[in-house]
Amino acid sequence: MLVSATEMINKAHDGHYAIGAFNINNMEWIKAILLGCEAKKSPVMLGVSEGAGKYMCGFDNVVGMVKHIHDNLGITVPVAIHLDHGSYEGAKAAIAAGFTSVMFDGSHYDFEENKAKSQEIIALAHSKGLSVECEVGGIGGTEDGVTSAGEQADPQECATIAGLGVDFLACGIGNIHGKYPADWAGLNFDLLKEIQEATNGKPLVLHGGSGIPREQVQKAITLGVSKVNVNTECQLVFADATRKYIEAGKDQEGKGYDPRKLLKPGTDAIQALVEEMVENFFGSAGKAE
Ligand code: 13P
Repeated sequence: MLVSATEMINKAHDGHYAIGAFNINNMEWIKAILLGCEAKKSPVMLGVSEGAGKYMCGFDNVVGMVKHIHDNLGITVPVAIHLDHGSYEGAKAAIAAGFTSVMFDGSHYDFEENKAKSQEIIALAHSKGLSVECEVGGIGGTEDGVTSAGEQADPQECATIAGLGVDFLACGIGNIHGKYPADWAGLNFDLLKEIQEATNGKPLVLHGGSGIPREQVQKAITLGVSKVNVNTECQLVFADATRKYIEAGKDQEGKGYDPRKLLKPGTDAIQALVEEMVENFFGSAGKAE
């Protein structure tokens, strides 16, 4: 059974570790991430962007795939299926399709509209027992073809959205989706502290978790970050392992062209990355009950 993320995130916040929210893009990624977290006894959130949802033939299909793969693999750790950067309409559609957690990202609206729409999605999600994430201040970089300038969230706006009863809050503190530029200034820890205080200790979400120096992520976790989103690092190891396999010529011999064989190195590489991250990076290994 898939669960809301409220309990796993609150436990992580109390225990000063973070839940990995790994984006899924196809069946291989779902298997790799679930098996990696099961091996390490770590709870996990599977993030689905609207673009990935379309790619996987719609939210209903994604929910069905995750449920069936979860049951077929005998996964016992808590798993939430979470809409990542949902639009207002997308969040409603994901709730209707059976997601157990949704993000409504209204950071591109003016603040009053973000607040009103966040309030509505929070009420709808909570009426069905689901967890909700909202966002204040854009996250830099490009995701699903949408580019936003890096922003630093306003602590007072964070406090207002936290006060609506959101379960966890994404706020820009200099983090960027995708690869970080060489001259990146790093995370703004003073702002993170301010936001954590202003929101009375609301669990915070760090988007753009790929490529941030690890000591910075770990410091952010000690300052109230309880969910770290990772997509690009999984993409990089998947592509790299697949490319190496093809370049080694294995697809030419011994049935290496069989898609199950072709995609195995990349799938295994994602599982290894997930296991390593939840153990050494997020500290969530061994936290499942
Ligand atoms: P990265 O692609 O930078 O890991 O970011 C993932 C993310 O924040 C998804 O919302």
